Amino acid sequence: MTELLEVAVTERHRVRYPILRPAKATVSSSARGQLHERYASRLVANPLLTRKLVSFQASKVTPFYRWLKYKEAFSPELVDYLFDCLDIARNESAHVLDPFAGTGTTLTRASARRWKATGIELLPVGVHALHARFAADRVDPVAFKRVVERLNALDWDKPKAGWHFPHLRITQDAFSATTEAQMSAYLRFLDGIADVDMRFLLWFACLSVLEEVSFTRKDGQYLRWDSRSGRTLGRPFNKGAILAFNEAVRQRLAEFVEDLQTRNGGNFSRNVEVIEGSCLTALPKLPESKFDVVLTSPPYCNRYDYTRTYALELAFCGSNENDIRRLRQTLLSATVENKSKRAELCALYAQLGAGYRYSAIEGAYEQQAALQEVLGLLIAARERDELSNPNVPDLVANYFMEMAQVVFELARVLKSGGHVIMVNDNVRYHGEEVPVDLILSDFAASAGLAVEKIWVLPRGKGNSSQQMGRWGRQELRKCVYLWKKL
Ligand SMILES: C[S@@+](CC[C@H](N)C(=O)[O-])C[C@H]1O[C@@H](n2cnc3c(N)ncnc32)[C@H](O)[C@@H]1O
Repeated sequence: MTELLEVAVTERHRVRYPILRPAKATVSSSARGQLHERYASRLVANPLLTRKLVSFQASKVTPFYRWLKYKEAFSPELVDYLFDCLDIARNESAHVLDPFAGTGTTLTRASARRWKATGIELLPVGVHALHARFAADRVDPVAFKRVVERLNALDWDKPKAGWHFPHLRITQDAFSATTEAQMSAYLRFLDGIADVDMRFLLWFACLSVLEEVSFTRKDGQYLRWDSRSGRTLGRPFNKGAILAFNEAVRQRLAEFVEDLQTRNGGNFSRNVEVIEGSCLTALPKLPESKFDVVLTSPPYCNRYDYTRTYALELAFCGSNENDIRRLRQTLLSATVENKSKRAELCALYAQLGAGYRYSAIEGAYEQQAALQEVLGLLIAARERDELSNPNVPDLVANYFMEMAQVVFELARVLKSGGHVIMVNDNVRYHGEEVPVDLILSDFAASAGLAVEKIWVLPRGKGNSSQQMGRWGRQELRKCVYLWKKL
């Protein structure tokens, strides 16, 4: 019979979950099997965490959240649900941290409760989305509407002198000549707007329609190219109707105008602080015991390259090829191009007089037996020349070394009794499951956090299409972890 665990989701709301016990066959004497056994009682299926609740999908029509399609974002409903699960849910004051803030879903929902929130974000696209929230708080909605109306009289055939879309190699041919000319005319219009916040919002509207007006679509790991781009393609692809730039930007601005009328009266700028940069260098400098809650979703260990997916937007923001390379390296390691950051992080801790903290992090990383088992198997496969990419073991090693640092720092900056909630996916390389949920939870335990629950989403992820044929489809867990500082 299935064992059930009763959990109070909110004061009035209790749910009974089936406890997932590993099937006998999967419990082996291997380090991963032992790790699974250690945390089996904490692995709990949570039927309320549907894909729809967890993903950005529904936010495409939600005021403010629709301003930028950031499919890595979680839904505001998920954040509300997770905050409600905590015993501080009704507190008047709390301070929340999201070290991978993205477009700021954690921050906006915390500030809606009048809590304080601190976000750290490195990718300029996310940073600009956060700035758009600040600008939205300050701008006069009526005056903004009037400025937007002036676009009706704009001569879209008159470009901004000397402006060309600052293309990167991978964005060449992404737009038609007409689209680039209209964008140029729009930027000329922006030059005449004196109010900084208004000008920024108008600029951000342009950034947010780039994909729509381009010959590309953000598709999984890559930009997929429409055959109309003239690029030589493996297989023909038509993304459907492509809006003219002047139509797309006016439609987006109409949403801005509508949403600005329902803004929350400046809560965001009053309650939220944004740190621009890498959390790997920002977290060690934050004071101890500052936050009541951490709610976050780091990049997954899945080779996903933000700089590739957001190449159009980054080019528009002025990043050149070198900037992109540097940015990719500074982001949490999740691609096969990433090099170890160990030396520079070690130096940073030494500079802060906290070398002993980095040693503890390295110790936890080196002693995590399940991780070392996976790394050993991947390195052996590399030696046999069996890996699809020889850098996969480095990717996994770098990812976990950096995440060990993040977990230890979160434990340090959290107040006693505070919670970390983290959303992440398990992955598989060369047929070897990497139990990201268990490894990170074990780091949390080493850092002094109690692993209360690892909520498993009703349906996990399948294999990547690349690995499907070879290894067959086996579900990988997608989880929300709940850790508490004792
Ligand atoms: C899964 S997304 C989080 C999205 C966010 N929850 C939201 O609702 O928009 C992970 C984010 O981590 C950011 N990131 C990656 N490496 C980082 C680093 N070293 N420091 C800070 N942010 C980083 C990425 O740019 C991305 O926005």
